[in-house]
Amino acid sequence: MGLVVAMDGPSGSGKSSVSRGVARALGLRYLDTGAMYRAVTWWMLDRGVDVEDASLVAARAHEPVLTMGTDPDKPGVSVGDTDVAGPIRSAEVTKAVSAVSAVPAVRTRLVEMQREIIGDGGIVVEGRDIGTVVAPDAPVKIYLTASEQARAERRTAEQAGTDVAATQADLARRDRLDSSRAISPLTRADGAVEIDTTEYTLDEVIAEVLRLINERT
Ligand code: C5P
Repeated sequence: MGLVVAMDGPSGSGKSSVSRGVARALGLRYLDTGAMYRAVTWWMLDRGVDVEDASLVAARAHEPVLTMGTDPDKPGVSVGDTDVAGPIRSAEVTKAVSAVSAVPAVRTRLVEMQREIIGDGGIVVEGRDIGTVVAPDAPVKIYLTASEQARAERRTAEQAGTDVAATQADLARRDRLDSSRAISPLTRADGAVEIDTTEYTLDEVIAEVLRLINERT
């Protein structure tokens, strides 16, 4: 089995940038599991499914066919023949994704697909439940955090035309839903190393993760 790095944490903690940087530095693949929950959410909204109705979402959870790219330089995501890399970042999808990702039928299907993609390893996987559920035996588990203010500022800088206060309120809402849901809530896995990135630059965090990987493998 090749290396598996499990990277979990709340929204805006730097998971994507850190995971991609680490994958690039070590020549590993990269999987963004949040993009998978977003892609299913995009599909549900596109089909007019009421995402607040868990039984409707569950009934159609097996329908969207996802294709995930694992190149850290251009990780693509498609549903059927549609490239949804752009649309899955829309405000509508961001608002609806926590409800869709709390539906057990959605999680069962995506976790199975994530394990298939992980396969023999050689991959950095980011999400909320990678170290706890998807790959609990991963030799390196990281839990990234940052203050809510810092996370909101980073997200605002990424998305032109948004303001910090609104972004902070949205992050707080999603964290609350993701941490309190009944199935696979966001929580630090046993054996995960917590890194608070509030005071560090991206390069410093990547260097710290590379050091941990070196130490543990
Ligand atoms: O990482 P990102 O913010 O794109 O994730 C979007 C949403 O997908 C999260 O707010 C969460 O509801 C869900 N998610 C999840 N489990 C994962 C990854 C993401 O429930 N492993």
